[in-house]
Amino acid sequence: MPQFPIARPRRLRENATLRKMLQETRLSLQDLIYPLFIVEGRSKKEVGSMPGVFQLSLGDLEKEIAEIVSLKIPALLLFGLPASKDNLGSSAYAQNNIVCEAIRKIKLLAPKLLLISDICLCEYTEHGHCGLVESRGNSQIIHNDKSLEWLAQMALVHAQAGADLIAPSDMMDGRVAAIRKILDANDFAHIPILSYAVKYASAFYGPFRDAAESAPQFGDRASYQMDPANSREALREAALDIEEGADILMVKPGLPYLDIVKKLKDEFHVPLAVYQVSGEYSMIRAAAEKGWIDEKKLVLESLLSMKRAGADLIITYFAKQVAAWFKEQL
Ligand code: PBG
Repeated sequence: MPQFPIARPRRLRENATLRKMLQETRLSLQDLIYPLFIVEGRSKKEVGSMPGVFQLSLGDLEKEIAEIVSLKIPALLLFGLPASKDNLGSSAYAQNNIVCEAIRKIKLLAPKLLLISDICLCEYTEHGHCGLVESRGNSQIIHNDKSLEWLAQMALVHAQAGADLIAPSDMMDGRVAAIRKILDANDFAHIPILSYAVKYASAFYGPFRDAAESAPQFGDRASYQMDPANSREALREAALDIEEGADILMVKPGLPYLDIVKKLKDEFHVPLAVYQVSGEYSMIRAAAEKGWIDEKKLVLESLLSMKRAGADLIITYFAKQVAAWFKEQL
């Protein structure tokens, strides 16, 4: 390799047009998925810890979907907040639950918008855990295998309502296989599974639990979500989910886990999604409100970094802002 003064990397950075043309990674609107929180029996409310993010009622959907379509956002990730919770999370898998209603309504309003439904019990259980809780001796445990049946049932009713993709986020072992099985048995073999394969037990989810009202009422999620210290385990989780039939894998959170994104990208040949989670969003918003950072530049740089690490898709609460910024550029 030639050395300085023959080699001058700055030569390629001088001209702005050339600089743009030589970008190795690009962010596009087609990469983005926007999360929506649909609330049953209540009206629209901004999430205190996530300014700019709202809990929406079915009645708010018309206006919201019109805006999303006009911004050309291609896909939504749907979360439901039921009118009532119980210990079994029964409103998660009931026919015509709030997410099913939302899916049907959005499909009428915008048939081409891709609808991804989050599969997890935490928004629907009184205890706020992602699976069913049982006593074992003196302690309360999250029962893996008993949860599977209900998670699968939840996936099925969402598919019946018209969900285009099923995204299990509960982190129970074997849930991808259980969901694949029930979908296939009911003529939904064509519906892909986007598995939250590598989901860490992260403090970055704090504001989401406000938005989805899903904070665990006892203990934490460390018995099912992954320890932030581990990266070999991420490869194992990913391999298991692929074997069980996952079509797309997800890593979550985003920015603090780009080493994991890169590892998965190098190791596996399925598309990869990255979730820029609530805490990442709220930290950027808070710093921007204080005038400490340039919000637009920081958001675009963060998302671009996820793509550089290997993300094919990015779930982000900034999707609307990004779409509006892209529009300005045209
Ligand atoms: C449900 C779920 C969570 C998130 C997505 N799906 C919360 C959790 O696991 O506690 C977090 C998303 C975010 O922080 O933006 N299990």
